[in-house]
Amino acid sequence: MSRLIVVSNRVSVTKGRGAAGAQGGLAVAMNGALRKHGGIWFGWSGNEVARFTGQLTMQRADGFTTATIDLEPHDVDEYYNGYANRTLWPLFHYRIDLAEYETEFGRGYERVNEQFANSLVPLVEEEDLVWVQDYHFLPLGERLRAHGLKNRLGLFLHIPWPPTRLLVSLPYHERLVRAMLHYDVIGFQSTEWLESFLHYCRKELQADVDEDSGTVQLDGHVAVARAFPIGIDYKEFMAFRGTQTAQRAYERLAGSARNRSVVIGVDRLDYSKGLPERIDAMERLFTTHDDMVNQLLYVQIAPPSREDVRSYQEIRATLEQKTGQFNGAHSDVDLVPIRYVNRGFGRAELFGFYRAARIGLVTPMRDGMNLVAKEYVAAQDPEDPGVLILSRFAGAAEQMSDALLVNSHSAEDVARALWTALHMPVEERRARWEKLNAVVRDHDVIGWAEDFIALLAAPPFHHM
Ligand code: ADP
Ligand code: G6P
Repeated sequence: MSRLIVVSNRVSVTKGRGAAGAQGGLAVAMNGALRKHGGIWFGWSGNEVARFTGQLTMQRADGFTTATIDLEPHDVDEYYNGYANRTLWPLFHYRIDLAEYETEFGRGYERVNEQFANSLVPLVEEEDLVWVQDYHFLPLGERLRAHGLKNRLGLFLHIPWPPTRLLVSLPYHERLVRAMLHYDVIGFQSTEWLESFLHYCRKELQADVDEDSGTVQLDGHVAVARAFPIGIDYKEFMAFRGTQTAQRAYERLAGSARNRSVVIGVDRLDYSKGLPERIDAMERLFTTHDDMVNQLLYVQIAPPSREDVRSYQEIRATLEQKTGQFNGAHSDVDLVPIRYVNRGFGRAELFGFYRAARIGLVTPMRDGMNLVAKEYVAAQDPEDPGVLILSRFAGAAEQMSDALLVNSHSAEDVARALWTALHMPVEERRARWEKLNAVVRDHDVIGWAEDFIALLAAPPFHHM
């Protein structure tokens, strides 16, 4: 079996129980995949140094090795805070109103991609499969080829791919996507993002695109693009079921709810997650129905994310203001309807919280996949499961059509779904949950990685 070299911006080894802090879906997924396959996980240390040296820090993790490099502060600013999170992230989540197009960001992004290529090349052996993750490294494949690497190179994009009409607002969009075509395999979370990508290649690059196989040919390069919906590490997650930590977390939340139905949200504090919009939906529900304060408790766990970026500071301020206002208007002396918590929890604790919640509220405005939706389903009691309310704009909606699918832009629609969920008979809850759970169980992160790796390891595609 070939060694796996995973590249991602963040290298974040989960410590299982006890682990706290903001963990994105990518970190959770890569831990699962690397534990199974072995190899090297290469990325940024998260640290800054005055002068870039490219020196690697190697550490042994649970079944694999991590290799990290430090970056200079201005590189972090232009590459991570800048191009990745002020340009690509908003644009790819359809928020061109928030996207900032600064030449310096683009230059920093290309510079850091070159630094990564430089440090990575000496680690790679002949038979290794190189698997690059996410929007931080769209041009890395091209850089690696420029260094003479002949290995199979794959890219998986964890976030959406925007419609062509939005993407063309990005300066040098052609250069970026042309560079991507140096990868052999390009994976997307859903067929919607895949179709947008193929549309762009055909329309803007005049590439030779075969929709059925996902093959894109341009200037002698052949890339294959496919949808690989990511899953959770189902087995690992289910192992929390019997733990004391999960049980205690369950009792703590269920006990303190005082007979109210718990609605839970767990999201990085990101404008793509639709958090203020959830409060608008709550507002609808509380003003159109009497006595909701005695019936419902909404717990929103939202660890701060990307705090150096202004749009994140703003969403945080907005949310604080709206939560305060809502609680001011709807609390009773002994009951507060929204509990808003700005920190991370261990995965076992999360399991217990999900289990205690009658409703999982997952209503992003746009999301590549959304793993919280899958974790919520996995944590339910089969006999008395809760209801998942899921935005149709999450990649997960393609697979999870037995959830209550909602338009997260419509407070009315979400409020109606909350009401329906609160009153859903147990038979219907069970019927929906069984189908959802089968999807989550049968399409886990291990299978996801295996599918991607199998295509990456397959014989080279036909070259022109
Ligand atoms: P994203 O990748 O955009 O952050 P996902 O829903 O795909 O969104 O993945 C988020 C992951 O991070 C999930 O596995 C979730 O459990 C984890 N997570 C989010 N918030 C917290 C938190 N407060 N504590 C612990 N884990 C969290
Ligand atoms: C999403 C992205 C990941 C990213 C994570 C956390 O899941 O797809 O690439 O690592 O969010 O964001 P951060 O900027 O803290 O790494």
